[in-house]
Amino acid sequence: MKIIDIIEKKKKGGVLTEDEIKFFINGIMDNSIEDYQTSALLMAIYFQGMNIDETTFLTKYMVESGEILDLSSISDNIVDKHSTGGVGDKITLMFLPLMAASDLYTAKLSGRGLGHTGGTIDKLESIPGFRTDLSIDEFKSKVKEHKTAIAAQTLSLAPADGKLYALRDVTSTVDIIPLIASSVVSKKIASGANHIILDVKYGSGAFLKTPEEAQKLSEVMVEVGKRLNRNICAVISSMNQPLGRAVGNSVEIQEVIEFLKGNMEPDLKEITFTLAQTAFEKTGKFASKEEGFKYLENLISSGAALEKFKEIVASQNGDISICDDYTKLPQASVKYEVKSLKDGFVKNIDALKVAKACKNLGAGREKKSDSIDYSAGIYLTQKYGEPVCKGETIAVLYTNKQDAIKEAEALVIDAFEISDEEPKAQSLIYKIIH
Ligand code: URA
Repeated sequence: MKIIDIIEKKKKGGVLTEDEIKFFINGIMDNSIEDYQTSALLMAIYFQGMNIDETTFLTKYMVESGEILDLSSISDNIVDKHSTGGVGDKITLMFLPLMAASDLYTAKLSGRGLGHTGGTIDKLESIPGFRTDLSIDEFKSKVKEHKTAIAAQTLSLAPADGKLYALRDVTSTVDIIPLIASSVVSKKIASGANHIILDVKYGSGAFLKTPEEAQKLSEVMVEVGKRLNRNICAVISSMNQPLGRAVGNSVEIQEVIEFLKGNMEPDLKEITFTLAQTAFEKTGKFASKEEGFKYLENLISSGAALEKFKEIVASQNGDISICDDYTKLPQASVKYEVKSLKDGFVKNIDALKVAKACKNLGAGREKKSDSIDYSAGIYLTQKYGEPVCKGETIAVLYTNKQDAIKEAEALVIDAFEISDEEPKAQSLIYKIIH
């Protein structure tokens, strides 16, 4: 078998066999296939697509390219949650303590952000002392003891995805359903959970722009999961506007703590509770959504979820005093208020523009080796549907780069759409695919 023949076949729209896909993944792993050949095949897949059989084989061999975590000694009811990526997406950090406080096990391996803002691991690392570089054994023992742990995705799980993703990122081949599906599902299967809940985003701040595309991706992921014997469920929601008010790293940690103290932004509550209710349903904890909802509200109002968050932070060496004193989180030297140019109601806040502004302020990275400024970020003082007056503050920019302010301010002003009429309340959830 030769890789050039496989590229040629896909270029002409052919369907790859299981053996060809296995040959491709093995070749990536033993370096017998060059990066330029892999890139050519990725581009051919980008334009010609892959059917469900091909996507399943690709996922299967990506899983088999590395270690598969065995968590069965901890429980046979382990939940994992994964977001396809968004702006201000801090849901994992509220979901995990809620699950653990509900006596459900979650084992979460997460990525760093490559793109406009930090990933979940970057956000956590803004907590002084917090360790995300857990070995597999440490990770498992913390899950066992605290019902949850969160660590940086190790290179030993689905390593073929790491290699492919690095090339996709620089060859503009990320935003295509079979490649996103195999990337996400292979990592989740290798991570060992048996209930996988996917938080699939569409909109300006997501890889896929329409709900229809997000639904197609979700259906593919659920089907691949079924064919590979994993219970996958996908919650589809809008990422047209940032989630919550904080976008960045330490500013998002602060918003998470406020949420757990009971100051829940409605959009964060809707997504977090829907994912948690779905986990309750999947694991058989509560069959009824209403019962699950009441239970979650009680976990917040009783302080149980916040206590769990502190327990997780402490168990991974983080400083829990940040929960009572936010000045212990990294602080930016410059704080700049962006003012509204007109009166009206906030009709939209373009997530991508806010993310770009955030990156300019120092909160994201261009390439893997770039370092992140944990203190940089944006706090949206006005959100969808809220009234604003000309000259009123709509967002606060945090940075250590004075010269980045003007461009970030222009992006934020451009991101805000202000209308004369009050927009209708809207639900973020589009559909749940089981
Ligand atoms: N998240 C992933 O893990 N992989 C993708 O390809 C896209 C989003």
